[in-house]
Amino acid sequence: MKYMKPLIAANWKMNPVSKKEAEALFEGIKNGVKGASSEVVICPPFVYLSILKGLTLGAQDVYFEEKGAFTGETSALILKNLGIEYVIIGHSERRKYFNETDEIINKKIKKALEAGLKIIFCIGETAEEKDAGKRNEVLQRQIQDGLKDVIDIEYINIAYEPVWAIGTGNNCSVEQTKESIDFIRKFVPEKTRILYGGSVKSENSRAYIEEVGSNGLLVGGASLNAEEFVKIVKSAE
Ligand code: PGA
Repeated sequence: MKYMKPLIAANWKMNPVSKKEAEALFEGIKNGVKGASSEVVICPPFVYLSILKGLTLGAQDVYFEEKGAFTGETSALILKNLGIEYVIIGHSERRKYFNETDEIINKKIKKALEAGLKIIFCIGETAEEKDAGKRNEVLQRQIQDGLKDVIDIEYINIAYEPVWAIGTGNNCSVEQTKESIDFIRKFVPEKTRILYGGSVKSENSRAYIEEVGSNGLLVGGASLNAEEFVKIVKSAE
């Protein structure tokens, strides 16, 4: 839908390494995106969530239990009570390094919705899956299993992030992204935003909104440079 406000989200991953740098990056972005018509969300490491103020924040992960003896974890309720609006769930790095399955992701999505968080749900095929012609099959499985028994689809934003495009500089072509997004669209209502992520830079960002018709972007590496991220936000105007 053309009138949907684009969502431009920054996934800082495990960066930056000091509070001082996190604050400087955040301030730079905050000043630069003033008056932007897109919805801008910053997803920093957990420890910075309570010190950064003035832009919408998202966590990069969440646990599927509410509270209690789960050392090291953070619940959706804790995030919600802190004033956090969004959470990224199912990022390919969590799937790969932390063995997150579609089933775990589904539990996290349900719990996050229950707490009233908005979700950026990441899906995408690996290079091997792409080469084997299994892209659509993988996307369909990730959507259907990840969103199993989920009714509140309107709070879900889907980020299509081909794993081979993440952090590689090898961003997905306009044609291929359009194909995938059109495919994903078959499984979700019209009001669900579908974003693109994977080596987004200010030189390629506009095409994903204008030509592909995606409803936003999930930006990793390029969101660690305030000037560059601001340019990306402006390119979606
Ligand atoms: P990238 O990461 O922009 O550095 O490719 C995107 C992501 O992992 O969300």
